[in-house]
Amino acid sequence: MTTTARTVIGGNWKMNTDRAAGLALARAVSDAAKPLASKVDTAIFPPFPYLPIISQALCDAGSSLWLGAQDCYHAEKGAFTGEVSVGMLKDVGVKIVLAGHSERRHVLHEGDDLVNLKVRAILNAGLWCILCVGEKLEQRVTGQTDTVNERQVRLGLREVSPDQLARLVIAYEPVWAIGTGKTATPADAQDAHFNIRGVLADMFGKDAAARVPIQYGGSVTAANAVELMAQPDINGALVGGASLKAEDFAKIIQAGAR
Ligand code: PGA
Repeated sequence: MTTTARTVIGGNWKMNTDRAAGLALARAVSDAAKPLASKVDTAIFPPFPYLPIISQALCDAGSSLWLGAQDCYHAEKGAFTGEVSVGMLKDVGVKIVLAGHSERRHVLHEGDDLVNLKVRAILNAGLWCILCVGEKLEQRVTGQTDTVNERQVRLGLREVSPDQLARLVIAYEPVWAIGTGKTATPADAQDAHFNIRGVLADMFGKDAAARVPIQYGGSVTAANAVELMAQPDINGALVGGASLKAEDFAKIIQAGAR
């Protein structure tokens, strides 16, 4: 299957930075991304409290960056202490939201049903969604990588309509590779991506599946980004640690533009 997907690079800051450092990082990434915006879509995912000031700064700079949120809650409003709705995120200029990140699944114990509710809330609101999937180490060594990915994709995308697929990105992030310095080999990652695209093709048809960007995530660095993104089914990267240094992240954006 030939991929016609755009390249999407995401910088997931997780629970890092403060107000001043976040603003400075956003401005530096914005400057790096701007000349490459015709080739690569770049998003940053700051912590919730800094979204409004960063949104304003990006707007003032005429930035091409997409403002992203690391999570959301699926209900519109109400008695959900501590949660943030998709409408609130939209209100402060967010364009893209992560769902099912491995830290949400495995540290905060979110299951596939909740992830699916979030995916639908994000897409129903007209925003872009990155659905994150990936196997744990014990699942990889027992040969369950593709089964786990298939289950998370099928359950995550339950009741998602074919037209909503145009605003979907998948991030394949093997859990054992996140924040560990261990990366899947380009060939292993390509294998997993190829199979995920096959699942999308089965659900939504070949042409629609070919247009969905599938990012690789898990210890992506300036050093390994080129080789990973040279694989035919790897359409970008979701980057944690290396997205906190503007120069490193700029090199990853440049790798995506090649
Ligand atoms: P990492 O995180 O690049 O620090 O491994 C990736 C992610 O969790 O999205």
